[in-house]
Amino acid sequence: MTTHTLALIPGDGIGVEVTACAVTVVQAAAQAHGFAVQTQTFPWSCAHYLQTGSMMPPDGIETLRGFDAIFLGAVGWHATVPDSVSLHGLLLPIRKAFNQYANIRPHRLLPGVEGPLKAVGFDILCIRENTEGEYSGAGGRVHQGRDNEVAVETAIFTRAGVERILRFAFEQARNRRRHVTSVTKSNAQRFSMVFWDEITALVAADYPDVAVSQMHIDAMAARMVMAPESLDVVVASNLFGDILTDLGAAIQGGLGFAASANICPDGSGPSMFEPVHGSAPDIAGKAIANPIAAIWSAAMMLDHLGEAAAAQAIMAAIGTTTARGIGATPGRHSTDEITAAILAALEERP
Ligand code: IPM
Ligand code: MN
Repeated sequence: MTTHTLALIPGDGIGVEVTACAVTVVQAAAQAHGFAVQTQTFPWSCAHYLQTGSMMPPDGIETLRGFDAIFLGAVGWHATVPDSVSLHGLLLPIRKAFNQYANIRPHRLLPGVEGPLKAVGFDILCIRENTEGEYSGAGGRVHQGRDNEVAVETAIFTRAGVERILRFAFEQARNRRRHVTSVTKSNAQRFSMVFWDEITALVAADYPDVAVSQMHIDAMAARMVMAPESLDVVVASNLFGDILTDLGAAIQGGLGFAASANICPDGSGPSMFEPVHGSAPDIAGKAIANPIAAIWSAAMMLDHLGEAAAAQAIMAAIGTTTARGIGATPGRHSTDEITAAILAALEERP
């Protein structure tokens, strides 16, 4: 029997609550589909930071390297630790250290879920560059606190980095409706974004079977609201992808449905799977967090690990559950009720 090793980082707030749900569903699917998942939990979080002075131990990355995949609940508790510290101490270093340069975020309405838009038939796969660009972490401040203070944060775009994320997007499009929309702002940002557009044209030439369009980020924001059904694969830089995927989450009914995968495509390190919602301090501890984003992310993880049938079964069980009205409307069901309904739906299937 195949055994997949999984590092769990429940993290902060509702991350802890939804990770538990995702693990329960993964284990049920593993049992039904004849494989095993061996988990090890790491307490790395803001609470851990307050106790130890760091978000993860110095050998944290090396520890994670040995696992087949990482599942992360959420990082951040800004009441006690500034987000700029917690995120740069855990989530962002993991994405960079393991070369998880492709962040995949699907946006579509689950059965029975009413989004805020009239459009219902959209199915967008957002591919966000995940290791460089505007979040590369290059910059600094001088004359801190003085009138002449300067802050510089440099967006870094490398040919290798841009080309690989575009190739990844075109590959994804081949398994879908064969359309890539590359999002930039090359009318205003004439160096990095013109560079991105040029590389898009070069990569597109290798994929004559995939249609390509280019759009500016501002127009894209409007299009995702006005005509989301016109989009297939959307590829964007780190910052633009970050913003567009919260918009994507909104049109699919809210952050409770937004799943994501941080993929290391060359397999040189583990990939990491996490719901997009974050730690949600406002609802943490109330047992009302929607676990669907986490469970959907776990399905993406199983698919990545080669367990496509189990992943499909979980997605079908989520769909059956929301079609029954459970977990479809924020606040109506508890975290446990939704998880129990998904587990029941999973068992109903052959
Ligand atoms: C996300 C989050 C993170 C990001 C933050 C918390 C650093 O917003 O995964 O979208 O921007 O990558
Ligand atoms: Mn975000």
